[in-house]
Amino acid sequence: MPGVEQYTVRDLAPLARELHAEGVRALLLFGVAWSKDPEGSEAWAADGVVPEAVREIKDAAPGLVVVTDVCLCAYTSHGHCGIVRRGRILNDATCERLGRVAVAHANAGADVVAPSAMMDGQVAALRSALDAAGHEETAILAYSSKHASAFYGPFRDVEQSTPSFGDRRTYQMDYRNAREALHEMERDVEEGADLLMVKPALTSLDLLARARRHFLVPLAAFQVSGEYAMLKSAVAAGVLDERAAVEETLGALRRAGADLIVTYFARDVARWSGGPR
Ligand code: PBG
Ligand code: ZN
Repeated sequence: MPGVEQYTVRDLAPLARELHAEGVRALLLFGVAWSKDPEGSEAWAADGVVPEAVREIKDAAPGLVVVTDVCLCAYTSHGHCGIVRRGRILNDATCERLGRVAVAHANAGADVVAPSAMMDGQVAALRSALDAAGHEETAILAYSSKHASAFYGPFRDVEQSTPSFGDRRTYQMDYRNAREALHEMERDVEEGADLLMVKPALTSLDLLARARRHFLVPLAAFQVSGEYAMLKSAVAAGVLDERAAVEETLGALRRAGADLIVTYFARDVARWSGGPR
């Protein structure tokens, strides 16, 4: 991931101020756990890495929208997105933990929480946990159509979250199945999702276009680590012009129906487009 770094909480105040001044409007935070255990308990600790980071950023740049990834895989010693018993993921127990994670993030000041674990019922679990904690106004950006994908490889290396056994295909979706993706989005809307996300982005253009016609909520596309790495390697090899190639991929996502784009190129895009507007 050339040009992408992990930051410590201390680095975040100046960084947040810089990014905001350059025209970046929102950040999506991923924690890298200070300590991992089988349940991933740091994920919902009030003084865990993400709540600390959110407080730091919100103090430094209150106008920057802070979105947090809500999952367990960066906190569990086995690297799966949920609680594991006898080699299986416990769906409902995981949903309950994800609710606690979202509340910990909202307590710290997160504006939007983004559940990415792909457990059934996770959006409903987050909504009721947030409401019960007095966070009716915290929005949920649901990773609804999230494929089991080869394009998350660079991210997992950075997060040290590659599962130590098995894979994520029992909870992430088969990319060959379009109707399942739409079904997941429909369920997430019913459960209270405020925004829907598809991921990876460039392999989901058809889903974005179909979702745009079916749903009225804002749609987000996540240009993931493998998409970034692919473009960066081609640029480094002298094969592609970076700005033109990146803008074309982002333009295609907009054309297909994305209202929001999550991209590792955000800082470059803000610069190319001439700063804050
Ligand atoms: C955690 C999560 C992942 C990504 C976002 N949230 C990794 C995964 O599911 O394996 C991927 C992000 C990227 O590749 O940029 N569940
Ligand atoms: Zn995960």
